[in-house]
Amino acid sequence: MCGIVGYVGPRQALSILLQNLNLLTYRGYDSAGVVVSHNGTLYIEKTAGKVSALEALIGETEVEGHVGIGHTRWATHGPPTTLNAHPHTDCQGRIAVVHNGIIENYYVLRQELLSQGHKFTSETDTEVLAHLIEAYYQGDLGAAVRRAMQRVRGAMAMVVLHSGEPDKIVAAKLDTPPLIVGLGQRENFVASDIPALLKYTNKVYILEDGEVAEITRDGVRVSSFLERPSRRVYQKQVTVIEWTPDMAEQGSYAHYMLKEIHEQPTTIQDTLRGRLDEPARRVYLENFLSPQQVQNAHRITFVACGTAYHAALVAKYLFEQVLRIPTEVDVGSEYRYRYPIVENEDIVVAISQSGETADTIASAREAQSQGATIVAITNVVGSTISRMADAPLYIRAGPEIAVASTKAFVGQLIGIYLLLLYFGQFRRPQGSPALQQILAELPHLAAKAQRILDDTAPIERLAQEISRSKACFFIGRHLDEPIAREGSLKLKEISYIHSQGYAAGELKHGTLALMERETPVVALATQENLYEKMLSNIQEVLARSAPVIPLIQEHSSNLEVLPEPRIVIPRTNDYLAPVLSVIPLQLLAYYCAVALDRDVDQPRNLAKSVTVE
Ligand code: M6R
Repeated sequence: MCGIVGYVGPRQALSILLQNLNLLTYRGYDSAGVVVSHNGTLYIEKTAGKVSALEALIGETEVEGHVGIGHTRWATHGPPTTLNAHPHTDCQGRIAVVHNGIIENYYVLRQELLSQGHKFTSETDTEVLAHLIEAYYQGDLGAAVRRAMQRVRGAMAMVVLHSGEPDKIVAAKLDTPPLIVGLGQRENFVASDIPALLKYTNKVYILEDGEVAEITRDGVRVSSFLERPSRRVYQKQVTVIEWTPDMAEQGSYAHYMLKEIHEQPTTIQDTLRGRLDEPARRVYLENFLSPQQVQNAHRITFVACGTAYHAALVAKYLFEQVLRIPTEVDVGSEYRYRYPIVENEDIVVAISQSGETADTIASAREAQSQGATIVAITNVVGSTISRMADAPLYIRAGPEIAVASTKAFVGQLIGIYLLLLYFGQFRRPQGSPALQQILAELPHLAAKAQRILDDTAPIERLAQEISRSKACFFIGRHLDEPIAREGSLKLKEISYIHSQGYAAGELKHGTLALMERETPVVALATQENLYEKMLSNIQEVLARSAPVIPLIQEHSSNLEVLPEPRIVIPRTNDYLAPVLSVIPLQLLAYYCAVALDRDVDQPRNLAKSVTVE
């Protein structure tokens, strides 16, 4: 979390920094700040609130300078005040630092620096860096940063400048938080994420753990502070990004989230493109698991967080039911600390839109260190998870900017179906009816998703009603259960209405006590084999006076017992229903949040990419 930007080149730095910070606001929006270096002086402005508040503060002020860094914060140490906003400076106000991540030994370092006479002005861990670099500075910022980074523990990315070296910024990375250097023509950039660079360049260096980049307008020198001698400079490989600048723009949509919901038919097509050969009943995944790895796997474990975890739950149902492979699912924050039993032939699938979620990375590392083969289902080429994986599977959803994940979830589901088919071709070479049905239906899903998006008016009307509720429940069985959870997460995340996603059969074991007239229940009933059971669960809820909104496939039976209004999705194969049923739930959450005038793309207390534990 937190977004970092930096610029060195011929243009005025301030406007580039602000523009790029706006593109990273999704990473945190508790405070914002910039520093521009010019002729030995530093212009610093910072404030609590979003980048827009910073822009308002700066107003029409003319700020001269071609070198600068900036920050948008998701608070960890110290509340989101102006005093705690980055950049943070050293005692003499010559060094300014912006930072993403956590310095775990900051307290010890702070005490040490205080005893040496350094004066601190904030409660952040970040300020330690400014003073540490000051302590080591002997006329070479790169050298001071390398020494300082050798002292800190934790996971972080940082960028720093010094008023005495006015043509340079220095960036460093420890462990996982992402840091990307954008390579321009006689100008260079740095940012926490690719969207902030796309307007200027598609050529980047993706910094690795332990690297320091000394960035001037004429070049970038990369060295490692972990190696000795740490000043040895080496050639980094240039990565070319295939995303275009317009992919990260909001266009004519009221919010990024709405745009991303509407992009889902394209996400489905793009994730499938070139990978599915229906007549030959084959799936092609490049540089992927070998037939032996697939055949030898005794067990698959999915690890993920938040929305990606719900995709993983869908995977468990599919892999166990269709392929009869024992499948485990866990959230990253639990898996990493639960002393998991991992065997050499296990396959661990890490699902992550960003590829930078700290808990998911740590889980995959834990499994890898115990001998598992790691598959990554991710959206971001070059992300930490994609690079550590033995077999990355990219979902090709394009940049996802809204904090609430939508198109990435649908992309993850498609990735899971591809993985299922891929496993199927080596584990069930003779085929199976379920695999054939999935293979045959996948190419039709995008058009069916589009049909849902062509008429959103009924969902908008429903949202008007639900937005007046105190609490809302989502229930379902089997493949509908993870989608109930996902619908619930979407609603609470952006509308702040309390909600719970529940296994429908579990309601009667406690939660039914909460049912009353003011608690609408969205009941997913897309699975034919459990349809009648769901009808019973719906009756149980109705009997407690709670309004039920059934979500069903078109042409479902027994409609006379289902209340109205209903959410009806185009008919599809039951295995694939999650891809369609989640879309109206995303829209429902979106329109509730709009009705309540919430900050849809940047809901309170959250950030897009969770790079801390
Ligand atoms: O980038 P990741 O997919 O690893 O992110 C995981 C979660 O933080 C993310 O899905 C989060 O739950 C979303 N805000 C939900 O909309």
